[in-house]
Amino acid sequence: MVPSNQWIKIKAPATVANMVCGFDILGFAVNDPYDEMEMRWVARTEQEPSIVIINLDEYNLPTEPEKNVAGAALLALLEEYDKTNIKFEVKINKRIKPGSGVGSSAASSAGAVVGANYLLGNIFSKDDLVRFAMNGEKVASGVKHADNIAPCIFGGVTLVRSIFPLEIVTLPSPELFVTIVHPQIEVRTADARSILRQKVLLKDAIKQWGNIAGLVAGLMKSDYDLIGRSLEDVIIEPVRSILIPGFDALKLSCKQAGALGGGISGSGPSIFMLSKTDEIAKAVEKEMHELYAGMNLPHHTYVTTINQKGVEILADFI
Ligand code: HSE
Repeated sequence: MVPSNQWIKIKAPATVANMVCGFDILGFAVNDPYDEMEMRWVARTEQEPSIVIINLDEYNLPTEPEKNVAGAALLALLEEYDKTNIKFEVKINKRIKPGSGVGSSAASSAGAVVGANYLLGNIFSKDDLVRFAMNGEKVASGVKHADNIAPCIFGGVTLVRSIFPLEIVTLPSPELFVTIVHPQIEVRTADARSILRQKVLLKDAIKQWGNIAGLVAGLMKSDYDLIGRSLEDVIIEPVRSILIPGFDALKLSCKQAGALGGGISGSGPSIFMLSKTDEIAKAVEKEMHELYAGMNLPHHTYVTTINQKGVEILADFI
């Protein structure tokens, strides 16, 4: 266990959930952007709260533990911890904009529980940490989903084979370059979920599970063409893409620039594309810039790679 009062620094990566065809089950972590956090534990008297959250950014997110995604995740962890005389202090500097669709809430929840576990001497497994952090996702979107949390904690590409009981499968991947564009509009995950149809046609389901299996096989066999062909979503994207300006045109021009494929990142509004080389990923970024500049739509882009480490403890003591 790390001695009380000693601060640790945490780096929590952004994540791309769904990976186009794998709604709520597939996701991967990226090296940029990421959140920074600091955390320590101190002795607690009975009257004191067990979690104190301090925001270091401009987003004014709630600091009451029950309403804060990191707080909710930590409360779940503390419920399974046998001592009650400790208090976590958490400073959060969000560099991943909330509501951007690249796992901002997951980064805070996952970062907090990985940090707490480190402070407590790594007593919980990664699966336990995913379970705790899902409580943060419930605060953010009303639903416990793990497709951002799992890659954030494990790194790389992950498959949520089952959520209750939790079973996470880590997947290998060949070298892939990721281009992300974040148009500066807000799409709330809860809204983007509420518009989805609750029933799917069997013919669509067959296509979708063919693509999911194809994508997983493509990742495992390092078959770039199979990965590209499998990045197709016939169930969620047709409904959600109407929330994202220029979606179809952007996807088409990115593919023409050489991207393997891509689609909505999580529940949007960010869009991601996968490419075989850094050069192609940069050409894809240029297409994104040109399209959104032409529409006078402010946006941010990232060219990055898959993060294989997940949440990291950066410095032992600061
Ligand atoms: N799988 C979730 C969704 C991810 O698409 O609603 C949200 O980030």
